[in-house]
Order: sequence, then C-alpha cells, then structure tokens
Amino acid sequence: MSNLFDLTGKVAIVTGASSGIGVQIAKAFARQGANVAILARRYDKLTKVAKEIEALGREALPVKCDVTIEKQVITAVNTILNTFGKIDILMNNAGVDSVGSIDLIEEAEWNRVIDTNLKGVFLMSKHVVKHMKKRNYGKIINTTSVCGVIGGKYEPLHAYNASKGAVISLTKGMAASLARYGITVNGIGPSLFETEMTSPELFEESSLKIYNEICPAGRPGNAGELDGAVIYFASDASSYTTGQTLFIDGGFTSI
Ligand SMILES: NC(=O)c1ccc[n+]([C@@H]2O[C@H](COP(=O)([O-])OP(=O)(O)OC[C@H]3O[C@@H](n4cnc5c(N)ncnc54)[C@H](OP(=O)(O)O)[C@@H]3O)[C@@H](O)[C@H]2O)c1
Repeated sequence: MSNLFDLTGKVAIVTGASSGIGVQIAKAFARQGANVAILARRYDKLTKVAKEIEALGREALPVKCDVTIEKQVITAVNTILNTFGKIDILMNNAGVDSVGSIDLIEEAEWNRVIDTNLKGVFLMSKHVVKHMKKRNYGKIINTTSVCGVIGGKYEPLHAYNASKGAVISLTKGMAASLARYGITVNGIGPSLFETEMTSPELFEESSLKIYNEICPAGRPGNAGELDGAVIYFASDASSYTTGQTLFIDGGFTSI
C-alpha cells in the first residue's frame, strides 16, 4: 500500500516555493523521495528552502522565475530538464491575493492577480506539458482555493475569486484533453492556512473568531494538512483520478 504513494526517483517542480504552502509541499514531495525544483522570484529565500530539502536527503534546484513572464518560464523549464533530465510532477502553486471592492479595484491590480494566479498556471503547464506528452506521463496539481467556488461576505476578493475559479475550470479542461497522454491534472482548494499571504490581522482573535464560527472544523488548517492530498495527486495512487479539485477546508465549502 505504501508503495502507491512513493515518489522515489520522481522529479517535481513546485512554483511559489519561497514561502508558505509551496515550501510545505516541496518538502512533502522530498520526504516521499522526489528531487524538487523550487521556483519563485525571491532567490535568497529559495536557497534556504533548497538547503532544508537537501537535509532530507534529496536534490533541490532553486530557480528564480516569475511565472507571469513566458521567457523566464521557458528558461526555468530548460534549466530543470538540463539538471534532472525529466519532469514528472508540476505543482502550480504560485499565487497572490488582493482585497478590493469591484467598484474600486484598479485595472493593474486586477491584471496582477489574474496574471499570477491564472496566466502563471497556463504558462508553466504549456511548457511542461510539451515534455510530459513526449513521455506519456505527468502529474499536474494546481493550487486553487475555496475562493474559487464561494465569495467572501466580509472581504471582497473579486480578482482572486475569478482567478481561482478559472483555475478550477482550467484543471477540468486540461484533465479532459491530456488524459490520453497519461497526464493527470487535479487541484487542491485550501481554506485558511497561516502564511505570508494571510495577513496577521486574519489571525487576530476577532477575525479568527468569525472564521472559526463559519468553518465546521472550528479552526484554520495546520502546516502539513495539505500533504496527504498533494502526495496522492502526485503519485501513482491517483492514476485514474483527474479533473478533480479537492477542498481541504475543514468543511468550509460543505455548508
Ligand atoms: N494561505 C491560505 O490560506 C491559502 C488559501 C487558499 C489558497 N492559497 C493559495 O496557496 C498558494 C500559496 O500561497 P501561500 O498562502 O503559501 O502564500 P505565500 O506564502 O505568499 O506564497 C506565495 C508564493 O507565490 C510566489 N509568487 C507570487 N508571485 C509570483 C510570480 N509572479 N512568480 C513566481 N512566484 C510567485 C511567492 O514567491 P516570490 O514572492 O518569491 O515570487 C511565494 O513563494 C497560492 O496560490 C494561494 O492563492 C492559500
């Protein structure tokens, strides 16, 4: 049974791996045996994460890459292929959020969120899928959000909602067209996890009280509580699972 989830010998890419959820996921893949290429814009942070992965006994490749810029994506993918020789797993995790009422959000801000959260997934997938198709194998996992299927009553997150909802649709579309190439495409949809993205105010007692009252689990997610889902989607345990988004949300989207 444990072999089903083994990633020994696999090569994974994790975008947005300089902080937060991406770091957790990169280390989870490494603990299962994968070598990991970690991408983000802040190279100094990536080199620290790389050392933590190497301490787990795996190879880590920090690659400075802005996922919104196609040239940088192409260079990053080539660097990874030159280093590891293949790519088995692509975790599209880089993301930014944005709070703003629809009548106030600036066009540039709208574009920043859509470019990072949606176009970034498109560009990374475009250049990694070319390689995966040739090998007739690949596991793509997209980090979306509960905000892809629900709105926020207290905080307007329209650009974020739109980007994450679109990624859920893109996940289904890519899954349907890439299954014949042995490529699965799935998503994870977290609710609230404490990271750089979640402002400290969200974790102040008064804000947390509101979240905890709405969320059936009565608490935010803890570091490590996404690991099981991403390892499942990255491993051969999910060979016949594609197009799915698994909400890891303490029941937030079940009410
Ligand atoms: N935390 C939550 O409660 C929560 C809930 C639902 C979904 N999510 C999703 O989880 C993912 C990770 O977020 P997080 O919570 O871990 O926040 P985080 O700590 O702020 O991490 C975001 C990551 O994305 C990277 N990034 C942002 N723009 C980028 C770009 N243009 N190119 C490359 N990398 C970029 C950042 O690195 P650099 O700044 O170094 O580039 C960073 O590594 C996001 O997709 C987010 O929407 C988070």
